[in-house]
Amino acid sequence: MKILLISMVLLSVSTAQAASIYAGKAKAAAVCSQCHGVRSTSAEAPFPPLAGRDEEYLEMALKQYRDKTRISDVMNNIAGSLTDRDINNIANYYSRLGK
Ligand code: HEC
Repeated sequence: MKILLISMVLLSVSTAQAASIYAGKAKAAAVCSQCHGVRSTSAEAPFPPLAGRDEEYLEMALKQYRDKTRISDVMNNIAGSLTDRDINNIANYYSRLGK
């Protein structure tokens, strides 16, 4: 049920076509922040922190989740509805956060 709700949020957010960091932030706030904290401490375990992580690493991880070459029940579902543009925006946003 939670996953269904999240998918609905993702669908509605992905119609916005604004540029880069703002779109990344909007999507992160609407979707990712339900699980991932913004601080780069380990306090939010078991959800790995995303803030300040390497942009290319985040992009790679999200594409692997989308392609299901990296398996996670939760993240395969979420990344499955992200476009390349979404992934670029989100990776850009999180990599700049906390720096
Ligand atoms: C319902 C909870 C939940 C939501 C929402 C969620 N995630 Fe995750 N995410 C997880 C969990 C749990 C893991 C780690 C465990 C795993 O890989 O199964 C994870 C792992 C990740 C990783 C890998 C981090 C690493 O250290 O390798 C990335 C990147 C990521 N998520 C990005 C996102 C982004 C971007 C969003 C929003 C579009 C998002 N997640 C939304 C739960 C969530």
